[in-house]
Amino acid sequence: MDVYEAVTSRRAVRGFTDEPVSREVLERVLSAAAWSPSGSNIQPWNIYVLTGALLVELKTRAVERVAHGDPWDEREFEMYPPALKSPYGDRRSAFGRERYSALGIEREDWEARQRAAIANWNCFGAPAALFCYIDRDLGRPQWADLGMYLQSVMVLLRAEGLHSCPQMAWSQVRETVAEVLSPPDGLILFCGMSIGFEDVTGTVSHARTGRAPLNETVTFVES
Ligand SMILES: Cc1cc2nc3c(=O)[nH]c(=O)nc-3n(C[C@H](O)[C@H](O)[C@H](O)COP(=O)(O)O)c2cc1C
Repeated sequence: MDVYEAVTSRRAVRGFTDEPVSREVLERVLSAAAWSPSGSNIQPWNIYVLTGALLVELKTRAVERVAHGDPWDEREFEMYPPALKSPYGDRRSAFGRERYSALGIEREDWEARQRAAIANWNCFGAPAALFCYIDRDLGRPQWADLGMYLQSVMVLLRAEGLHSCPQMAWSQVRETVAEVLSPPDGLILFCGMSIGFEDVTGTVSHARTGRAPLNETVTFVES
């Protein structure tokens, strides 16, 4: 698979089969992703990989907790600014509209939206997941480094025939994640990532998200 195909075929997949992902493949992907750039090569990513019984335990705990309506853990970072100005707010609304209409969920049907959201904490059925932490003393440039690393992981997964879904939703139940992973004090959970083979037979929508036209996000400055 060439790089263009790997990048453009990556999407947030929200329905996986239970076919296991081997440790060998995960090690190969994570070893290659380690070549991602970071300012002064500080490599600020701290990754925990979870499969098997421990992942089942985490999913069970998280789904039960959310299904019981427990409140989220106190936030360690804001996922989005409270008022998302244009064009970001418009794009976010468009994404929500596309996602829920693909699932056949009415905008006002809060319960159905909640049910769809709960699938996050079941890793959308994926048999493998990683959790990406960063030291709380590090700053915005290092958080950007995490993004580069995570994109490398997702693109490399495509080269292995695998799919993924990055999920900040896991930060909302970070204490449940910490109960299972026992990360050292001082780390903040940025996101989880579900990893596996896409379930192409299921009822989950495979619709692609759109993108803003190039001239909305890129300016060529030429003489
Ligand atoms: C940092 C980050 C966090 C995300 N968190 C979630 C999440 O919690 N749940 C989810 O279903 N998708 C999540 N997504 C997926 C985005 O919704 C998705 O990437 C975006 O809509 C573009 O769609 P595409 O990835 O399919 O191209 C996240 C993506 C990123 C980069």
